[in-house]
Amino acid sequence: MISGQPGIFALGAAAHGFFEFSLRDEAAGVDLIRTIANLRVPHTTVGGANVVVGFRPELWRLHAPIPDDVHGFNDAISGPDGFAMPATQADAFVWFAAAAYDAIFDLGVETLEAVSPCATLVRESSGWSYRHSRDLTGFEDGTANPTLYDAPAVASIETGSAGEGGSILLFQQWRHDSPAWRALDDARQERIIGRTKPESAEFSEETMPPDSHVARTTLREGGAELPIFRRNVPYGHVCEHGTLFIGFAAEQRRLHDMLEQMAGADGGPRDALTRFSTPLTGAYYFCPSVDALAQFVTERT
Ligand code: HEM
Repeated sequence: MISGQPGIFALGAAAHGFFEFSLRDEAAGVDLIRTIANLRVPHTTVGGANVVVGFRPELWRLHAPIPDDVHGFNDAISGPDGFAMPATQADAFVWFAAAAYDAIFDLGVETLEAVSPCATLVRESSGWSYRHSRDLTGFEDGTANPTLYDAPAVASIETGSAGEGGSILLFQQWRHDSPAWRALDDARQERIIGRTKPESAEFSEETMPPDSHVARTTLREGGAELPIFRRNVPYGHVCEHGTLFIGFAAEQRRLHDMLEQMAGADGGPRDALTRFSTPLTGAYYFCPSVDALAQFVTERT
């Protein structure tokens, strides 16, 4: 059986660390893949953490199968009023999730040391859970997610296709303008999100504002909605904070189309949430199946 990385589906961690690396030399690509595939402790039951790893699609393609149309976040996405989602693609991504930050710290130090001969750290982000599953806007985040029974089919490429069991990850850092957001009353915030704040109940089709976040991230094909699997976490401190968007899909097109709709790059209205939160980074990583990663494991104990 081809399995997606279990960390993608491992919910409930309170502490998160994200590390993005760029190659020192393009020729060292396979060394970077091998080093990350061979990180032993996070893959054992004694590591105290879940791990998800991913690679720039163009890098992974040089060494293993991946669907032809999967690509890095190589160009910014622009929308009306000078809005832009920046492209900050790196070569590799490592995400540790644990009950407390001490495990993330130790694993992060170990990973940096292991990776440093072939790559440099371009970005480190840390995330934490806020009131169980709330975003720092105060809204529940993840309500419309598929359940864990359905998530693997949404997030993982089907068996028999190139890159089977792998997932396409969109990772973006969004900084909130919290003073402006908090100046709005709950009714206005709810129209921006498209759900009620306390119960996260979705607005009806008749009352859903066309520029709400839910309206702009809903994709339909042949009458059916096209879901993704989101694992967003808050980041930052009191003075500067926001959302680390972590979205997985078996088809990159879904993630990309959602971004275009949010930006208003599809000719529709720009997502009202983008008036209160600004994307600072954006990258796509291919998260190979466990079986595909195992091809690069050289040290077994
Ligand atoms: C500042 C960044 C973001 C915040 C704070 C945010 C927050 C939320 C919240 C509160 C909801 C409603 C509850 C839920 O169903 O989870 C939601 C729904 C959703 N968001 Fe986001 N989101 C952000 C960025 C994004 C991005 C970048 C995407 C896609 C690329 C996205 C895709 C979705 C989808 C697909 C839904 C479900 C829509 C539906 O009900 O059909 N979000 N988000």
